[in-house]
Amino acid sequence: MKRFFYPLALAGLLACSTAQNTTAPTASAALATPVPAATPVITDKAMVVSAHPEATRVGVDILRKGGNAYDAAVAVQFALAVVFPVAGNIGGGGFLLYRGADGREGALDFRETAPAAATRDMYLDQQGNVIPDLSTLGHLAAGVPGTVAGMVELHQKLGKLPWKDVVQPAVDLAAKGVVLTEKEAAGLNRTRDTFLKVNQSAALLRTQGEWKAGENFVQAELARTLERIRDQGRAGFYEGETANLIAAEMQRGKGIISKQDLANYQPKWRTPLHGQYRGYEVLTFPPPSSGGVALLQMLQMLEPYNLGKAGWHSPQATHWITEAQRRVYADRATYLGDPDFGRVPVAQLLEKPYNKQRMASTLPYRATPSAQIAAGAGLPAYESDQTTHYNIVDAQGNAVSCTTTLNGAYGSKVVVAGAGFLLNNEMDDFSSKPGTPNAYGLVGGAANAIAPGKRMLSSMTPAILTKNKEVALVVGTPGGSTIITSVLQAILNTVDYGMNAQQAVGAPRLHHQWLPDQIDVEAGALRPAAQDTLQARGYRLNPRAPWGRVEAIRVLPGGKLEGGADPRGDDSAQGY
Ligand code: GLY
Repeated sequence: MKRFFYPLALAGLLACSTAQNTTAPTASAALATPVPAATPVITDKAMVVSAHPEATRVGVDILRKGGNAYDAAVAVQFALAVVFPVAGNIGGGGFLLYRGADGREGALDFRETAPAAATRDMYLDQQGNVIPDLSTLGHLAAGVPGTVAGMVELHQKLGKLPWKDVVQPAVDLAAKGVVLTEKEAAGLNRTRDTFLKVNQSAALLRTQGEWKAGENFVQAELARTLERIRDQGRAGFYEGETANLIAAEMQRGKGIISKQDLANYQPKWRTPLHGQYRGYEVLTFPPPSSGGVALLQMLQMLEPYNLGKAGWHSPQATHWITEAQRRVYADRATYLGDPDFGRVPVAQLLEKPYNKQRMASTLPYRATPSAQIAAGAGLPAYESDQTTHYNIVDAQGNAVSCTTTLNGAYGSKVVVAGAGFLLNNEMDDFSSKPGTPNAYGLVGGAANAIAPGKRMLSSMTPAILTKNKEVALVVGTPGGSTIITSVLQAILNTVDYGMNAQQAVGAPRLHHQWLPDQIDVEAGALRPAAQDTLQARGYRLNPRAPWGRVEAIRVLPGGKLEGGADPRGDDSAQGY
């Protein structure tokens, strides 16, 4: 462990002495970390990977009944709201990317929006300081939910089975109950006091004592809400009884989402972003996600380097990857926000000469201090890592990659009384006060300031890679600001390092986001000697608990499907 602590004085000295320290070490590849073994799930025709075995099962059942990947996506989304309340949701939002077997593609944005009564300074006190917890906990933290409208839109445009059939499995799970996993029981118990603080009812809490793994978890009020959605579609959530219950909940907790906000909410179809990487076409999500732009920038920056030859998590490969991440996160902070509220220079950020020039300042064998990279006045906003992702490939070859979120674990912790579902705390993804660090030492840029109706900046990065016009890899993850680098690593793991889908998602990860100027390191990600080499190059290494829940489906030559479900959670890959 001692290798992880980099003395500050030495850091300063090294940062000033870059000129003398550009000698090539001889054995970078020899310090590469051995790739851990892992066995993927292989199926012939169809595959679903999600954060929970029951949600995955629901998706596979829908496919077996003749539903397509879009029907299955709706069913998985609603099932996750029941069996994975920490992040699965109907009170949140998300981004869904698809690529049809016919080559058609689309990016469905069902991100939450700021309520009409939201103001730029709503989380600041009279002195202009951020009021702790206001944007993360309780009613004022919630944006207008987008999930139900998004699912209705997806189903109307691309679904095959009747709407009722794809919502019913979630109704059943909520009414009959789901067996709690150890992780979910622990999460609910850990949050017990906070639930009690912001809610009048004891929703999600065990009547007496704590939840235990293996117990049946019934959510009767949620079942009735899902029945209204099943029977009335969009109106079952944004109008009538559910809307009344949300409005009453807002009144009780001094929140600002109005019935008009609910009625006005609209999902948006956006044009997916395209990039190329080593013979693959990379399809991903445009703003208000920052993730797609950042992913494509990093891939452009890294393509000239022979990462495979350098070796997986070797000092040299880590050096190149970190320098790309540092530069891209600086751009993200400065330029990214909701494109409906300001100009986001996507085309310029994705120009090859621009990204080549960004990497031109990379020193051969020295870290570039982040202070020398800052492009402007903004820095990345904090994003929690409690989000979730699912991938689906159906027997026809349609592919879905969807990341969906409440933001923090159990979102705002507010359960809508009488309706049984959690509201997001996505308002915290805005910059409450542009230019000022939050509790995590991060601050946000003006492009991401709060405005009524605006979508908050996100890092969610659903991605689909094709080769020779056929789907090759479907990938995505939760993880807040680490989402983008985790998706990048899953792609590098498969494309540059030849890992199977399970290895690619399970392998320990590294993360750098410009500020703080450090590489976060999961246990086992770097050999001790590689740590020494990186520290000698001026990198600060920060050991960190595991993050992200990457899900991947690889389409193998010949058409079989290979599923990778992140072993960090209860995630599951199933198919037929
Ligand atoms: N709330 C996490 C994200 O959207 O990136």
